[in-house]
Amino acid sequence: MEDLKAQINIAKLPEHIAVIMDGNGRWAKGRMQPRVFGHKNGVKAVREITEAAAELGVKYLTLYAFSTENWNRPSFEVNTLMRLLVDTIGREVKTLNKNNIRLNAIGDLSKLPTKTRKALLDGVERTKHNTRMDLVLALNYSGRWDILNATKTIAEKVARQEMKTEDITEATYKAALSTATFPDPDLMIRTSGETRLSNFLLWELSYAEFQFIPTLWPDFTKNHFYECILNYQNKERRFGMISEQLV
Ligand code: IPE
Ligand code: IPE
Ligand code: MG
Repeated sequence: MEDLKAQINIAKLPEHIAVIMDGNGRWAKGRMQPRVFGHKNGVKAVREITEAAAELGVKYLTLYAFSTENWNRPSFEVNTLMRLLVDTIGREVKTLNKNNIRLNAIGDLSKLPTKTRKALLDGVERTKHNTRMDLVLALNYSGRWDILNATKTIAEKVARQEMKTEDITEATYKAALSTATFPDPDLMIRTSGETRLSNFLLWELSYAEFQFIPTLWPDFTKNHFYECILNYQNKERRFGMISEQLV
């Protein structure tokens, strides 16, 4: 159904789309398979959505791949996820370069297994000159972790008298977050029917439009993605104002 894509108003595209890729485990369970089978099949959806976003002209795509809370899962699942990341990044760098997409990562990367961190930093390095779209992987990320980290950075600057308390503004705070170089998301999509944020981009999503869709992540296709963008384009973003002011 090419129609959905054709209906999208390219002039009103969300500049930044953030996605909570959820439902891999349930997808596998529904097929009587181990949870990691769902993660392996989720990679295809990552590829599809990255391609769809770049083709449309979206400038930033942030994908929640692993939260700080996900360490609490059984170690077999955590280890498989970490290995899957290494394999996937290694395999996809060529395609990212071909499509002119820059890879970025947010989160506490220092806690990742060495191999995973190396694969990631290698991917970031090898795609750093690309300009069409920024793909941001949130890995060992949580919104509260980032806010606390930013607070510490700012507190240290104030203590060293490099900054005054009155210089702490929305802009200087944003500059201390791991998302400093990315604009706030316009649209946040969560798959699998869950309607919570699970510690994702707490500062940055203050004025994003939310789309919660029932599809499990491995089943998420370009058409689902287009539908989310079309729904987004039918919303009126008032930013505290009233309709009549928005002409
Ligand atoms: C999302 O799918 C992937 C990660 C959190 C890494 P889940 O693994 O959370 O799948 P469900 O929610 O258990 O179905
Ligand atoms: C959020 O999904 C994290 C990622 C998608 C990486 P979870 O499946 O971990 O979230 P909860 O625990 O169900 O809220
Ligand atoms: Mg989940």
